[in-house]
Amino acid sequence: MKINRRQLLNLTLFATTAIIIKNLQQNSNQDTLWANELKPQIYKSKNGLLEVELIAQETPVNIDGKTAYLLTYNGQIPAPRLEAIAGDKVKIKFTNKLAQPTNIHYHGLHISPTGNADNAFLEIQPNQTFNYEFTIPDNHPSMTAWYHPHLHGYTAQQLSGGLAGLFIIKGELDDIPEINSAKEEFIVLQDFPLDNNGRLTDSRMMSLMMGREGDVITVNGEIKPQISLNKGEWLRLRILNASTSRFYNLSLDDNPFYLIATDGGAIASPQEMTRLLLTPGQRAEIMIKGENKQSSLKLINLPYNRGGMGMMGNRMMGGGMMGRRNNNSSQILATINLNQSNQNNQSVSLPNQLNTITALPSPNQVRSFTLNHGMANGMAFLINGKSYNHQRIDTEVKLNTVEEWELINTGIMDHPFHIHVNSFQVISRNDIPENLLAWRDTVLVKRGERVKIRIRFDDFTGKTVYHCHILDHEDLGMMGNLQINSVGVNSE
Ligand code: C2O
Ligand code: CU
Ligand code: CU
Repeated sequence: MKINRRQLLNLTLFATTAIIIKNLQQNSNQDTLWANELKPQIYKSKNGLLEVELIAQETPVNIDGKTAYLLTYNGQIPAPRLEAIAGDKVKIKFTNKLAQPTNIHYHGLHISPTGNADNAFLEIQPNQTFNYEFTIPDNHPSMTAWYHPHLHGYTAQQLSGGLAGLFIIKGELDDIPEINSAKEEFIVLQDFPLDNNGRLTDSRMMSLMMGREGDVITVNGEIKPQISLNKGEWLRLRILNASTSRFYNLSLDDNPFYLIATDGGAIASPQEMTRLLLTPGQRAEIMIKGENKQSSLKLINLPYNRGGMGMMGNRMMGGGMMGRRNNNSSQILATINLNQSNQNNQSVSLPNQLNTITALPSPNQVRSFTLNHGMANGMAFLINGKSYNHQRIDTEVKLNTVEEWELINTGIMDHPFHIHVNSFQVISRNDIPENLLAWRDTVLVKRGERVKIRIRFDDFTGKTVYHCHILDHEDLGMMGNLQINSVGVNSE
């Protein structure tokens, strides 16, 4: 039988339609698999208790209409947002359904580093459940903290897979009427190294040394989301850099915005700025005014060069992963659409005072920490010439004392230095006194730079860590054990 042209066309049409229908069916099946299509989970404490169940596992996730196989808590990218207030008890029933051991670190929280609390030394095996339990101290400052895995050797891989969520402590800053009346949005910045099949790519040694960066940059698991804001009103953005290594050099297209909080909570008064560099681990809260003259504002990530392995590295990588390290193109991260509002918004101005911050006094003890890389069983990242050793105590301090630490970067890459449990104040950078008095837990130490910080060890004794928050560097050895002893105990 001969098929004429028309019949052929019909047949083709039929076949094409069948394929389209089949694809639609597949897509709708797929949709039901995408756990992150559900509303983002928010857990708030009730009657002094925050009770949460978290499950870590590999999950197919919808990133910009494509399936990505990421590592999630409760299927969500970013992970559920937890909210508590000072004095609350926190109970987290955590189950590890990953193929590797893991644990959870509560980055920024001033809680015990031992037992069932912020214990970075726990190793929770696959299929094991662990009950975290701790109390947020009564005098805990309000802050934008977060949680992520922290098992040495696995941290970078698990964080870059997506395991990160906000842990908000509500309090004083939120009670200021001008801040409270602003629209509030949360921005979790994550980048994923994905192949064409949506699988996380294995990072090669050179990219690990630089710190892995993913090409898929997401804001709350979305690509270039839209935020709406009424003209005349204020937007409060709480921003977290949850990327493993990528720095975000944020701008609002040169429009001014106002910094109100750093890692450890509110600063004394709003600071006008047009650029905000956020290293991995850092948080900032900014206020943005919906001005009348514009219809939208773009949140942009500007290029930033965080150093590198030099000529040899560039040649070895042939412009592959390494070529992208300088972040040398800008990206739009999100768009803020400004709407005419029907209310007559008499726009409020920001208060002059947000918080009282007392400068830490002269130190009882001074130490220095040199950050560099070198050889120790192969390529390693070092603090004071040593690569991390689980057993070794690197630094012993006394409870209730103030120390001044000089962080000296003699290498060719920038390192964001992070300390667990207690926030610190930056005193100077290359001997230039720091103007902004602020509580931080992560500070950028640029290549060739010397940064002095002061820290007081309050409330909690026990063993914890400090490390570079380019988590590949941490996994490659740039971490030290910090033992906080009670006064009177002297094992030095
Ligand atoms: Cu967010 Cu020890 O890290
Ligand atoms: Cu931390
Ligand atoms: Cu580093």
